[in-house]
Amino acid sequence: MRQILVTSALPYANGPIHLGHLVEYIQTDIWVRAMKAQGHQVTYVCADDAHGTAIMLKAEANGITPEEQIANVKASHEADFSQFLIDFDNYHTTHSEENREFSELIYRRLNSEGHISTKDVEQLFDPEKSLFLADRFVKGECPECGAEDQYGDNCEVCGTTYNATELKNPHSTLSGATPILKTSKHYFFNLPEFSEFLQKWTHDEGRLQPSVANKLQEWFDAGLASWDISRDAPYFGFQIPDTPADEPDKYFYVWLDAPVGYMASFKNLCKQRKGSTDPLKPELNFDDYWLEENQHKTELYHFIGKDIVYFHALFWPAMLAGSEFRTPTSIFAHGFLMVNGEKMSKSRGTFIQAETFAKHLHPEYLRYYFATKLSDKVEDINLDFADFMQKVNSDMVGKVVNIASRSAGFIVKKYDGMLSETCAEPELLNDILRTGEEIANAYENREFSRAMRLIMQCADKANEYIDSKKPWAMAKEEGTEQDVQEVCSVAINIFRQLMVYLAPVLPELTDNAKAFLNLDDLSFASRHELLLGHKINKFKPLMQRIEQSQIDALIEESKQDLAAAATTGTVKADAKNNQKKLDNKKADTADTIEFDDFMKVEMTVAHVVECNYVEGADKLLQFTLDIGKEQTINVFSGIRKFYEPEQLTGKKVICVTNLVPRKMKFGVSEGMILSSGDPKTGLVVVTVPDECQVGDKLA
Ligand code: 2FM
Ligand code: ZN
Repeated sequence: MRQILVTSALPYANGPIHLGHLVEYIQTDIWVRAMKAQGHQVTYVCADDAHGTAIMLKAEANGITPEEQIANVKASHEADFSQFLIDFDNYHTTHSEENREFSELIYRRLNSEGHISTKDVEQLFDPEKSLFLADRFVKGECPECGAEDQYGDNCEVCGTTYNATELKNPHSTLSGATPILKTSKHYFFNLPEFSEFLQKWTHDEGRLQPSVANKLQEWFDAGLASWDISRDAPYFGFQIPDTPADEPDKYFYVWLDAPVGYMASFKNLCKQRKGSTDPLKPELNFDDYWLEENQHKTELYHFIGKDIVYFHALFWPAMLAGSEFRTPTSIFAHGFLMVNGEKMSKSRGTFIQAETFAKHLHPEYLRYYFATKLSDKVEDINLDFADFMQKVNSDMVGKVVNIASRSAGFIVKKYDGMLSETCAEPELLNDILRTGEEIANAYENREFSRAMRLIMQCADKANEYIDSKKPWAMAKEEGTEQDVQEVCSVAINIFRQLMVYLAPVLPELTDNAKAFLNLDDLSFASRHELLLGHKINKFKPLMQRIEQSQIDALIEESKQDLAAAATTGTVKADAKNNQKKLDNKKADTADTIEFDDFMKVEMTVAHVVECNYVEGADKLLQFTLDIGKEQTINVFSGIRKFYEPEQLTGKKVICVTNLVPRKMKFGVSEGMILSSGDPKTGLVVVTVPDECQVGDKLA
C-alpha cells in the first residue's frame, strides 16, 4: 500500500471560489478518490492562504479585522468545496500556530546555514497610508513609451518591464498620494545557492511535466535571483523571528508561508487523528511524510495552476532542501479555464461563482464535464456550455444511467429484484473488466479525458447489447422468462462496472447507485466478483437532463452577482495574483479609483419612499428614493438577502446620484445606495440621522 500526501493550491482568503478555481480542486479530488479506490492510503490537505497586503486591505475595506475577514471567507470556501464534493482530509488556514512554527523553523534553519541575507531596498512608500507600495498599488506613466495609467511592474501598452521606482508621475492607487522613495532593510532567500540542486531536481524522472521542465530551463538560463521574503509593517502575516531588537519588525512575505501551509495543515490533521482507530481515518505520522530521510517511504504531490510553477518548482523545493525536509515527489500543473472559448467575463455572465453554479446545476455535472476535458498536459480547458449540456445529457443520462433504467424495471417487477444465477455474456463482461485496468492507469496518470472515453465506450457496448437483445420485445413472448432475466442481469452487471469506474468523478451518483445495487463497496478491487443471484433494489432516477433554461438562469444570475456587487459598491471577486497576469483564474480586484474621480462622486441624502421585492430576482430590492427638489429616482440594490422591504421604508440613506443609469433586466437603476460589509456574509445599509436633510450632498 502506497502512502501518499496530496495538496491543491491554497486559495486566497479574500474572495469566493469560482469555476476557475474548481478545475484544480476537482482534478485533485478525482485523482485522490481514484487512488483511494485502488487501495492506497491517500491524504488530501488544503487550507486558506490567509496572509498579505491584499487581504489586509480587503478587511479594512469591509470594516472588519483581518482575522474576521479570513474566518468569514474560510467558512464560505469550505461550504463551496463541500457542495462540489471536494473531500479534503483537512482544510486549515495559513494563519495558524502550526504554520507559524514551521515557517519560523524553516527560516531559522535556512538562516543558520547562511542562506538568508539582507539588503537595503529603495521602494515607493505611500505617505498617507504609511505603507510600502507593492507594484500593483502604484500607477504612473511608462518610463519607456510614456503610456499613462500603467502598473508598477510592466507596461501593458509596450510590454516593457521595469521597477516601480522608474514610473513617471507615480501615484498610489490606495490613496492617490504621490509616493515617496523610502529605504528599508529586506531579507532575502539566496536562491542561486540552490541552482545546481534545482537543475538536477527539476530534471529527475517524473518530477515535472515536460513543458514545465522546459520553462524552468529558460529561467535557469536567465540565472536565478535571490528572493525577497520580507515585508514591512503594516502587514498581515507572521513576524520574522530573530531580527535585531532595535530595528523595525519585519514580516514574512505571504508566499514564504503559503506553501508551508501544506505542512501545517497536515500537522494539524496528525493531531486530530492521534489515537484514531478508524481505518478510514488512520493515525498519521508527520515525520513519515516530511523528513528528508523518509522521502522514499511516502509520496508527496502538489496540484497547482501553471501560473505558480515558479513558487512550487524553485522556491519551495529549495526551502525544503535547505531545511532538512523532503521535497515533493512530483508537481502537477494544469492550465486555465476558458468559458465559451474566452476568458471568464463578468459582463457576459461567464465569471461564475461556485455557489451560483450549484444553485442552478448539480455540481456533478461540472465534475463530469471537467473530467472529459482534463489530461496530464498543462493545457487550458474550455467550458463550452452547448458542449457541456450535450455531453452530460448524452453520456451520463442517455448512455450510462439509461443502462440501469431500461433493465432494472424488469428485474424488480418480474424477478423480485433477483439477478440471474449465471452470466449470459462472460466475454462482454470480461472485456469491460479488462478495460478497467486501462481506466485505472488513465486515472493514475491524470488522463481523465481518456478514462472518460474508455468508460463511454463500455457504455456504448452495453447499450448495443441491450438494443440487439430487445428485452422489452422478448418479455412479450412466451417462454423467454430466463432470457429476459439474463439479458437484464448482464446490463446491470455492466452498469455496476461503470459505477466503479465513475465513482472518483461522481461520488454522489455512485453512492445512490450503491443503494440501488445493494452493494457496500464500489472500489476497484470489488469489481471482479460478478453480481449473480444477487438482489437489487428499486431503481430511482439517478441523474436529470440539463435544460437550456438552467444554463440561461445561471448566466443571468452571474450577471446579477456583478450587478449586486456594483450596486452595493463591493466588488465580489478574487484577488489579483502575485504575478499580476491578466488571466481568468485570478480576476482583477484592483477596485481603486483616482482621487479626482472620487471627488466626482455625488452622494446625496435620500428618503426611502418605497422599497419592494423584485419578482424573479432573489438578490435585489427595488427602491423609490426621494432625493430632494421633488425628484424621485428608481434604484435596484443587491441586499435582498439581508433586508425585508419594511425595514428600510421611511429610512434616510445615502445614494450616489450621478451614476450613469444602468439598464438591468428588471428596469433602469439610477443610483447606488451605500452599504458596508460583505455581500456574501452580511451587508448593512448606511442610514443617516433625521437631522440630515433630504437632497443634501455629503461633503
Ligand atoms: O495563487 C494563489 O492563489 C495562491 N494563494 C496559491 C498558494 S499555493 C501554496 F503555495 F500555498
Ligand atoms: Zn510602455
